[in-house]
Amino acid sequence: TVTSEFTQGLPKAELHLHIEGTLEPQLKLKLAQRNHVDIGQKTIEDVQKTYDYHDLASFLAVYYPAMNVLQHEEDFYDLAWAYLQRAAANNVRHVEIFFDPQAHTSRGIPFATVINGLHQAVVDARALNVDAALIMCFLRDFSKESARQTLAQAMQYRDKIIGIGLDSDEHNNPPLKFARQFEDAAAAGLHLTTHCDIDQKDSIEHIRQALEIMDVERLDHGTNIVEDPDLVALAAQRKIGLTACPLSNSFVSPDMKGKEITELLKAGVQISINSDDPAYFKGYISDNYYAVAQKYQLTQAQIIQLAKNSFNAAWISDQQKQLYL
Ligand code: HPA
Ligand code: ZN
Repeated sequence: TVTSEFTQGLPKAELHLHIEGTLEPQLKLKLAQRNHVDIGQKTIEDVQKTYDYHDLASFLAVYYPAMNVLQHEEDFYDLAWAYLQRAAANNVRHVEIFFDPQAHTSRGIPFATVINGLHQAVVDARALNVDAALIMCFLRDFSKESARQTLAQAMQYRDKIIGIGLDSDEHNNPPLKFARQFEDAAAAGLHLTTHCDIDQKDSIEHIRQALEIMDVERLDHGTNIVEDPDLVALAAQRKIGLTACPLSNSFVSPDMKGKEITELLKAGVQISINSDDPAYFKGYISDNYYAVAQKYQLTQAQIIQLAKNSFNAAWISDQQKQLYL
């Protein structure tokens, strides 16, 4: 059987992790005080009482306002450094970290402040034996024009970013809305992924657009793909990485999508386990492995396969993969 010691000790890569979603209540309060930002909460219990969500929209309504405490470069550094220490404790050897520049530039924080703070933590993570990289996400509920400007800003920091993604509210915001930005990013050598959140109105259509038209290399969540066997076959054949997040799923739906995860493993899809927004969904990556293993009685062999998939779906060289596999 799979123990929590086993899931913790297993070397793994984390491919679906929003750095803003690692803001723990304690750090939130500390930064609020340091930056004189009134978030309307004074104690950890106050903060936790606001963590009341049942779907993507109600989660995002709690998530974005909390980011006001992030003001200076050192705040972004402290946020990322706190996560990277936890990653090391979880035996995460490689992590590709999402960040949402528009959630900060839209409230007056310069792009440079965000990326320089995060990047310094990425550099310092080498001392923790954690190999880290940054993926810039567009907020899909913002305009195409805003995405265009954001990509232009990112190009000034091209060497600090390995890829782009799409997150935030998926409702009526299909991947194709950003086809132009994805093409431009691919032309600049950036890797491509997009959230296809679970049980969205047009899940299958969004997955189809992402795979057949936009040539993404991964799907974040994406487990609704099981509804279309042809797309499952395509994902397996193209070695598309799917980044499932069991504990996150359990907040916005009645289950952790364990049946889908098992089915996709059987179909040979490169599906992995990740933590999404661990400070908000009660668990870091090892907790996610353990929770899904317990609830769906996954075998040790299946857990090992999920961890292998995490390295195989990572945006690292084959040579680097050999170090981990
Ligand atoms: N989906 C969409 N937006 C998000 C997520 C997610 O899983 N996490 C943080 N922002
Ligand atoms: Zn996510």
